[in-house]
Amino acid sequence: MALLETLSLSTLDPVSLARLADLLDDEERARADRLKLSPTRREFIAAHGLKRTMLGAVLGQDPRALRFTAESAGKPVLVGGGPDFNLSHTTGLVACAVATDGGRVGVDAETLARTPEPRLARRFFAREEADALQALPHQERPQAFLRLWTLKEAVVKALGGGLALGLKRFAVGTEPPRLLRQEGLLPPGHPCHLEQHCLPSGHVLALAVLPQNAPSKEPDGSSRT
Ligand SMILES: CC(C)(COP(=O)(O)OP(=O)(O)OC[C@H]1O[C@@H](n2cnc3c(N)ncnc32)[C@H](O)[C@@H]1OP(=O)(O)O)[C@@H](O)C(=O)NCCC(=O)NCCS
Repeated sequence: MALLETLSLSTLDPVSLARLADLLDDEERARADRLKLSPTRREFIAAHGLKRTMLGAVLGQDPRALRFTAESAGKPVLVGGGPDFNLSHTTGLVACAVATDGGRVGVDAETLARTPEPRLARRFFAREEADALQALPHQERPQAFLRLWTLKEAVVKALGGGLALGLKRFAVGTEPPRLLRQEGLLPPGHPCHLEQHCLPSGHVLALAVLPQNAPSKEPDGSSRT
């Protein structure tokens, strides 16, 4: 299935952060240096250090030696092939998932401190998701929104097409996390494992795992494999 790890920035001491920074290559360091805000820079370093640590352990290789490229729609992949992986960074938390059986993974994390605009639900979500949100008591809606949002982002990140794939063309449910409906994103009946975690750090995280032979998607929804 998949390995999933998170790092909370509030508990990451400077020595551990420096060790993670030491794993980055020149390009990742340059990207980190371009980030003006210190918290964002720390999240970037932690995310890419975690990515290298996990992939190095799975592959039995020096994490510093790993090289990366991207699929045509932007999903980062290992040069020369290897397990699919995905990372997410948000205020105060980073997460990384690595597929362990040849499948594809997507992970997304958001801080629960974020208060999403309710009107965004009708704009981005499938009708049944927006209806389900509206049926909830007001005080439950922000967290429910973020649970749906992270699940949907995890799915599009697993497929690789990004948000351009269109969040309305499939619907997810949260109790339990599952794919309710999808239009041509996956072959009919193709399994999609979804899980969700509400973390003590005040974040919500979603993981999507598509088994071996899952297609990677271009932003227009066409399949690449
Ligand atoms: C990828 C995307 C879903 C990221 O979501 P986000 O919530 O803003 O950010 P997250 O922190 O959760 O994830 C960012 C990470 O996802 C990964 N990522 C980037 N593109 C990706 C893609 N197409 N599929 C899966 N993962 C992707 C990267 O590792 C990135 O981190 P990095 O830039 O530090 O390497 C979103 O920004 C997106 O859809 N971007 C692509 C835009 C697009 O649709 N382009 C199509 C070209 S027409």
